[in-house]
Amino acid sequence: MPSIRKIQISTFRNLDQEQLEPSTAATLIVGENGSGKSSILEAIHFLGLGRSFRNTQQTPLIQHGKRACSVFGELDKGLTMGVSRSLDEPPQMRVQGDRAASSSELARHLPLQLLNAEAFRLLEGGPKTRRQYIDWGVFHVEHGFHGHWRDFKRCLQNRNALLKQKAKSAELAPWTQEFVLHARAIDAQRKAYLDLFIPYLERMLDQLISLEGLEFRYYRGWAEDEDIAEALASNIERDRMLGHTSPGPQRADLKIRIGKQYASDILSRGQQKLLVSAMKLAQGAFLAEESGRQCVYLIDDLPAELDRENREKVCRLLQGLGSQVFLTGTDAEELVKTVEASGFTTKEYKLFHVKHGRISG
Ligand SMILES: Nc1ncnc2c1ncn2[C@@H]1O[C@H](COP(=O)(O)OP(=O)(O)OP(=O)(O)O)[C@@H](O)[C@H]1O
Ligand SMILES: [Mg+2]
Repeated sequence: MPSIRKIQISTFRNLDQEQLEPSTAATLIVGENGSGKSSILEAIHFLGLGRSFRNTQQTPLIQHGKRACSVFGELDKGLTMGVSRSLDEPPQMRVQGDRAASSSELARHLPLQLLNAEAFRLLEGGPKTRRQYIDWGVFHVEHGFHGHWRDFKRCLQNRNALLKQKAKSAELAPWTQEFVLHARAIDAQRKAYLDLFIPYLERMLDQLISLEGLEFRYYRGWAEDEDIAEALASNIERDRMLGHTSPGPQRADLKIRIGKQYASDILSRGQQKLLVSAMKLAQGAFLAEESGRQCVYLIDDLPAELDRENREKVCRLLQGLGSQVFLTGTDAEELVKTVEASGFTTKEYKLFHVKHGRISG
């Protein structure tokens, strides 16, 4: 089960040279606004994915006035991982001292689930966020998915470039053929995953909140009664005009509705947080059940939007999963009360304070 034994952070946002030895169960990080709590979680995210969760621009990660930042982690079974970013050199990602081929290699070793204010995008954002959500699970559970997705993306780019040039069908044919192959595989793997995962998610959701009529429905990116080859053929004129491919797994979505309305349009903020919490927790738990591999949870500002009872419900679920979890908050007493009420023993959690980017135990 991946769990982080030690993290070393260097000139990453407001964290200068900091080290943390977390609990294998719950690690509580408390401090005032702007002290560096989210930056610690971001550093762990950087270690597990080679990028920030805040923005696509990675340079703000490097501490102002410095030229590079790095995060180094020791995991259980002696596994080491290191990621760095520099203004002068290409980014580096290492596993056991060897260069990692891609960020997916990091992700395989350190599966992460992040629950922060951005998680609401699962409900109110565009389909891309929900596709990434589905694909996190498919990537970790279904072998071969990553290869299909990587090759599909390359194929889509080439096909779109040709469509922009108004290319003839004969020129498109090799890419179309490959597109069809990968599209069918991606859809089949997403479907297989969701067929098992959605009932699992619904059971977890029942433990947090009752939302009458809530429905998760997978949309694969083209009509259910149409083969992808037919869908591409019938859209070809339109796609030439648009300069991109309309049908396909690049359009997939997981529609989350209550009756006829989108969940984000009718649920309260607290209800939305419970829903996205269940979605995040369930994915990690499902991974553990399917593959025996635990994921590490990063929960930024658990108390936000939730009343005491619901904070404890979420925390109790986390406790039950037995995964390593990092929780941040501004009020130490309140956070400690929540984890204790949720069944974490004093041996199972560690409390750290952050002040102006300095971590103390
Ligand atoms: N590249 C950087 N170099 C130095 N400091 C930075 C950099 N990027 C951000 N900061 C600062 O780091 C500090 C810590 O930010 P962080 O988001 O981690 O705080 P926080 O403890 O999570 O606060 P909150 O409780 O408001 O969420 C902020 O003051 C921020 O302005
Ligand atoms: Mg924060």
